[in-house]
Amino acid sequence: MAQEDIFKKLVAHCKEYGFVFQSSEIYDGLGAVYDYGQNGVELKNNIKKYWWESMVLLHENVVGIDSAIFMHPTIWKASGHVDAFNDPLIDNKDSKKRYRADVLIEEQLAKIEDKINKEIEKAAKRFGDTFNEQQFRETNQRVLENQQKWDALHNRFAKALNDGNLDELRQIIVDEEIVCPISGTRNWTEVRQFNLMFSTEMGSTADGAQKIYLRPETAQGIFVNYLNVQKTGRMKIPFGIAQIGKAFRNEIVARQFIFRMREFEQMEMQFFVKPGTELDWFEKWKTTRMNWHQALGFGTENYRFHVHEKLAHYANAAVDVEYKFPFGFKEVEGIHSRTDFDLSQHEQYSGKKIRYFDPELNESYVPFVVETSIGVDRMFLQVLSAAYCEEQLENDMRVVLKIPPMLAPIKLAVLPLVKKDGLPEIARQIIDDLKFEFNCQYDEKDSIGKRYRRQDAIGTPFCVTVDNQTPEDNSVTIRYRDTMEQKRVSISELSGIIGKQVSFKSLFAKI
Ligand code: GAP
Repeated sequence: MAQEDIFKKLVAHCKEYGFVFQSSEIYDGLGAVYDYGQNGVELKNNIKKYWWESMVLLHENVVGIDSAIFMHPTIWKASGHVDAFNDPLIDNKDSKKRYRADVLIEEQLAKIEDKINKEIEKAAKRFGDTFNEQQFRETNQRVLENQQKWDALHNRFAKALNDGNLDELRQIIVDEEIVCPISGTRNWTEVRQFNLMFSTEMGSTADGAQKIYLRPETAQGIFVNYLNVQKTGRMKIPFGIAQIGKAFRNEIVARQFIFRMREFEQMEMQFFVKPGTELDWFEKWKTTRMNWHQALGFGTENYRFHVHEKLAHYANAAVDVEYKFPFGFKEVEGIHSRTDFDLSQHEQYSGKKIRYFDPELNESYVPFVVETSIGVDRMFLQVLSAAYCEEQLENDMRVVLKIPPMLAPIKLAVLPLVKKDGLPEIARQIIDDLKFEFNCQYDEKDSIGKRYRRQDAIGTPFCVTVDNQTPEDNSVTIRYRDTMEQKRVSISELSGIIGKQVSFKSLFAKI
């Protein structure tokens, strides 16, 4: 099945099984805003827990905060967001649709890359074990031509971005003959900058209301609390501050479901270091964060680093962690070496000294910062994209979400085989005993096969069936979601078996 079709099915599945709903759906929805349902919120909370604990539990020099969404408006002037948090947009005059010029060009680059990868895949099949990819890339005419095209376009694109040359971005779109996917024409407007921040007003108009912004990143809440945390926590450099919270961006092109939203959640960590050591820390955090992703077991080949074509105004190094979504490799997380830009700017705009006194050097300096920044919603989509499977069984087909057990919304379903002979009571007792440890669900409706399918569809890793043998010897069957294997075990063993699988400990050991 084409990857795009799988993605459409995944989106439908998310709604049907209570993971994600369109916001304000009964009013026909609100563009690029989504709500999480009963299963979605559990998965989302587990992702946040995995991230939070991997930061503040595993690192004794990383602490958390929770700062407000509304902040003093000068913060956004100091951070550069008022002047430079822009996307270059372009309109198609025939379809009247608006696009991000940089995204149109990135998609063109991805098409060329696809052509190269297809040649390589074909050759790998043809030559089997003797295939040497490196040699093929260096000698195959078609691959070489496409690689040259890619390099030329990439260099031109990177230069245009770095120069902030909007005319050149448009010219690239024209020269590459990029068409609007809706109208199919090349009738483009000029490229213009569009600021992504939402604003509102605080206070009544009589008092002179103040224009304030909904934060477009959580990071600034960390920067402006740097001194508070460093002093009250007696933190010594290097140390980090972690935060999970909502962010808002008036995205021009909000497509691909929860991949690009106007209201979303970020998990960010700012790591404060001695000037000059930032690039070493940048490398360390790159490794740690890639390990965090890959520990989930979705296949190392599905992740890669992408080095930024254009560095943000605050960075001296930046990479994205990309995952192979059904619509191609896309960013899940950004890792940036942000220099001392933010703290220095806040020093200047607030007039307060934001320094660290280094007892070893006997001097004060503005710390440099390495940031890791990941979107909760994008991570959620990554997990579901990787977990969604359609499996052909002997007489049946099943849709199963192979979510890692520690992230699964429901850990355990307890199913009495029949609704009599005291089996429901035993099932309820098992839940009463285990509900303090795991999120459990009771289900007695329909055949056992149908009940298994319902649990597969929401990714429940374990189903426990109470049958006629249970009252005799206190044993039940435990069914494993991925293998569908069933084992007879004693009720008293359940806590140990499930506990081991759903604990984050095994993931943390790999980070
Ligand atoms: N503080 C740095 C920062 O915000 P970013 O690369 O703009 O960097 C970080 O965003 C992460 O936030 C991205 O990797 C992505 O996972 C998530 N993100 C950004 N914009 C988003 C959007 N419109 N919808 C969903 N997630 C988004």
